[in-house]
Amino acid sequence: MGNQTGLFVVLEGMDGAGKSTHLAYLQRLFEAKGRSVTLTREPGGSPFAEAVREQVLFAPMGPWTEILAVAAARRDHLEKTIWPALARSEVVLCDRFSDSTWAYQVRGRGLPEAAALSLESWVLTDGRGPDAGFYFDLPPEVSFERRAARASVSGETAVDRFEREDLGFYGRVRQGYVEAAARRGSGSHWIDATQSIDKIQSTLKEIISNI
Ligand code: TYD
Repeated sequence: MGNQTGLFVVLEGMDGAGKSTHLAYLQRLFEAKGRSVTLTREPGGSPFAEAVREQVLFAPMGPWTEILAVAAARRDHLEKTIWPALARSEVVLCDRFSDSTWAYQVRGRGLPEAAALSLESWVLTDGRGPDAGFYFDLPPEVSFERRAARASVSGETAVDRFEREDLGFYGRVRQGYVEAAARRGSGSHWIDATQSIDKIQSTLKEIISNI
C-alpha cells in the first residue's frame, strides 16, 4: 500500500457475526497506517440509499422489487459516497455490498443468478468495485442465538423482513457467501466468526499489515 490510491474494502456476514466491532477495529488499523477512512453501509450510505433501506427492511415487497431497490441504492451510494472517497485516496470500509445481494436475493430468495450478475455489471459499468472482502462466517444457529441475546439486552423489538426468515433461508445465505468469496478470489478473506474477538483481531492485523 505504498502508493496512496483509494482502497475499497467490504465486510460481509450474517447478523451477530461481529461486523460492527470488526469494522471499528479495521478503521483503527488503517488510521494507524496514516490512512483516512470512510465508514459506510448497505443498503444505505447516501440520503437516497438510506431512504431505500427503510423500505427494503420494513415495507412489504416482492423479491424482484427488493433486488432492484438494493441495486438502485447501491448505484447512488457509489456515486455520492464511495467513488468520491476513493478519488480522495481514502480507504472505504463498507458494511455489506453486492455479495449480500448474491447471498440474500439469489440464494436466500431464489432469484436467478443472471439477474444479480447483470445488475452488478450495470451498477459498476463506469466505476470500480471492491478491492477486498472480509467474510465473517457463522453457522445460522449461532447467528440466531446471538441475535436473540442482543435483543434481550437492548430491548429492541423491531424485527425487519430479513430477521423474520428461518434457518433454511440463512443456510442458503451462508452458501451464497461461500460462492461470493470464491468469486472474489485472492482479494477475499474468510474468517471464522465463532473465534474469540482477540483471535479475529490478530488475524485482521496480520492481513492489513500485508495490504
Ligand atoms: P444490516 O445492516 O446488517 O442490518 P442490521 O442493522 O439489522 O444489522 O443489513 C440489513 C439487511 O439487508 C440484512 O438483513 C441483509 C439485507 N441485504 C440484502 O438483502 N441485500 C443486499 O444487497 C444488502 C446490501 C443487504
